[in-house]
Amino acid sequence: MPKKGAADFPGTTDRRIDALLALLAENSTIVISGAKIAEEIGVTRQHVWRWIEKLRTLGVRVKGHPHTGYHIERVPDILVPQMLRRRLYGTPFARRIRHFFKIDSTNTAAMHLAEQGEPHGTIVLAEEQTSGRGRAGRSWLSEKSAGIYCTILLRPPISPAHAPLLTLVAGLAARDAVAEDLDSAPDIRWPNDLLVGGRKFGGILTEMHAEPDRVHYAVVGIGINVNQSKMPPELADMATSLKIETKKNHSRFELLIRLLRHFDRYYNQFLSDGAQPILRRFAEVSSYFRGKRVRITTSAESFTGTTAGVEPSGVLRVARDDGRGIELVLSGDVAEAE
Ligand code: BTN
Repeated sequence: MPKKGAADFPGTTDRRIDALLALLAENSTIVISGAKIAEEIGVTRQHVWRWIEKLRTLGVRVKGHPHTGYHIERVPDILVPQMLRRRLYGTPFARRIRHFFKIDSTNTAAMHLAEQGEPHGTIVLAEEQTSGRGRAGRSWLSEKSAGIYCTILLRPPISPAHAPLLTLVAGLAARDAVAEDLDSAPDIRWPNDLLVGGRKFGGILTEMHAEPDRVHYAVVGIGINVNQSKMPPELADMATSLKIETKKNHSRFELLIRLLRHFDRYYNQFLSDGAQPILRRFAEVSSYFRGKRVRITTSAESFTGTTAGVEPSGVLRVARDDGRGIELVLSGDVAEAE
């Protein structure tokens, strides 16, 4: 049962903005009257222009036609909850989508919401993050409306020991979702880096609240660089975006729908059939699964070796070069080695 406050999380995009955007976008070829807009979004006719102005300040180009009404000049690639919900029908993600134009981090928001009782399947989306978080305390650059910044709140019936598999599930879903946007196949560097041509364009940050035998909730944060035109110079050698790779823009809206549908499929497969199908798929699409020369850096040490599969719990197996056998890598940085 959601506790009081969950519905009014600060900064959530106003329901009327959502409704107005959906209305204009779904009727993009016609002019809609102020009266119709007023009725549909639940404001007075006098207030319609104010909400249109609000949309304009958000960069949406709405043309006003004297005496007849308004029409949207180009459907913006904004992750509008109402339109997403329709396309996610039949998945648990259609129920509760929380959208923010600007937020510190969708993972941080999702954890607060989880504490307030928000249900399994809630999606937190942002057009921009001011403190996007990456793994190992790093930050995640989250340029406005250029990438996908999405967190999925789960209440999975699994033990914390199996939680690393949620990251693999998300990695596979994101990989499959972007595959049709790219000319060459994307790779996954265990556990969560999405790569193309050896450069990273996406990552996953899974955080959870658990007891030794039960996960209360997990938040799976997915960041994908989609329409960034360039990377900051210090990242350009190792980071990229779908646009940089393909020289064209991609629809974040369509990509997000594919991502969430693939996630739903892999997640259900994991719950019904266990880790094996997930690991089999990971072995098919990740060059890091087996036989890859890697350098592993953990908080304790740095060593080289060759990857030797993934344990049913999602932990990476690495045959060490120093003859100390197979190392089970729970977390740490994985880099390709000579
Ligand atoms: C990584 O270091 O590879 C993980 C990056 C995860 C970034 C995403 S963007 C959406 C969600 N919110 C965050 O603050 N981080 C994750």
